[in-house]
Amino acid sequence: MEKLKCAVVGATGPAGQKLVAYLERHPFLEVARVVASESSAGKRLADAITPFFQKLDSNVPSTRVMDMVVQGIKNFDPKECEIIFSTLDSDVAAKYEARFAEDTPVFTAASANRYASLVPIHNVTVNDEHMEMVGAQKAKFGRRGFIVSKSNCTTSPIVSVLKKVAHYGIRNVSVSTEQALSGAGKKGLEEGNAYRSMVRKVGKYPYIEGENEKVMSESKQVLGSFDAINTMRKDADFEISAFCTRVYRENVHDERILVRMKNSFDLGEILNAILTPTHGYSLYTLPTNTIVLWNGKVVPELHTKNFGPMATAIGEIKKADENTLMFRATTDNTGIGAGLGLVASAEYAIAKGLI
Ligand SMILES: NC(=O)c1ccc[n+]([C@@H]2O[C@H](COP(=O)([O-])OP(=O)(O)OC[C@H]3O[C@@H](n4cnc5c(N)ncnc54)[C@H](OP(=O)(O)O)[C@@H]3O)[C@@H](O)[C@H]2O)c1
Repeated sequence: MEKLKCAVVGATGPAGQKLVAYLERHPFLEVARVVASESSAGKRLADAITPFFQKLDSNVPSTRVMDMVVQGIKNFDPKECEIIFSTLDSDVAAKYEARFAEDTPVFTAASANRYASLVPIHNVTVNDEHMEMVGAQKAKFGRRGFIVSKSNCTTSPIVSVLKKVAHYGIRNVSVSTEQALSGAGKKGLEEGNAYRSMVRKVGKYPYIEGENEKVMSESKQVLGSFDAINTMRKDADFEISAFCTRVYRENVHDERILVRMKNSFDLGEILNAILTPTHGYSLYTLPTNTIVLWNGKVVPELHTKNFGPMATAIGEIKKADENTLMFRATTDNTGIGAGLGLVASAEYAIAKGLI
């Protein structure tokens, strides 16, 4: 079977690098174009990047890919590919993604189009029904392609678990996070960068611009409903507060989550509900168990090695009181949190005949 030709637009940043490396081993998708800014254009990928593969727990791509010539975004023709993965800086994504979507499906990690009309924030297995927005989006904007976004990386473990406990009735949720440097892009990972040095010096930096707000609004959107007949979406009905912190760690996010239910619950029963897969389909990029229990010592740095880049690992799960569940959750920020989450969404769209 011939592989589908993919472009990685924003291929030189951390999220793009991990995505390019991942697609090398993919059975039916292949990287046909690597695209970045005009300052990277014309260079071999290997020469355009500061390689972060080790810091991202990622393979190094083959010589074939490292020798690919980076195309400048201005000259990139979206019609040359069947799928576009966008790991662009958000301001740049705002300028280009809608144009790319005129012809080609775009799966984006950037926040620029996350809140745009009829663009799903698709977290695979969590809100697959939101993919129905794609048809309405194509009709509304007269696009041959479409845009599908994914949630902010920090939102992903929250909604994965909340989805599984929603039937108990969620009253409110409190989240505090320790987020890895990869989430800050190049400035987080490049040795000697002022931002990285500052985080190293203070250990924990209790501010990530816009992050608390993104987590709060996206959690409710992802778990909300979509009425395909009236093309209306509605946020989920619970309260959420989030305090996000950057820490000196390369790639794995670690979150403390408290969920207050409307009623009392049995811990064993709720844990069983969280750990039991209910989506009923398989995708190449999706592990069988999307949420796994981390028994023993929780060491976020070992997440990818122990659980892989697409699993949410939970630990220290207990009842804080009769109605309150508390636990920790870790995820690979550049895996499910960024490009690999996009690949899973694309595989889902292919399975549904949208591509
Ligand atoms: N890092 C993560 O783990 C993560 C997680 C979730 C979501 N995201 C989102 O994913 C996106 C990428 O993240 P990142 O960390 O890889 O970001 P990054 O380090 O800022 O890299 C962004 C990419 O955008 C390109 N770019 C910047 N300015 C451009 C321009 N004027 N024209 C064309 N291309 C331009 C860069 O190319 P040059 O190298 O040529 O400048 C690079 O390839 C962001 O929107 C981020 O919010 C990231």
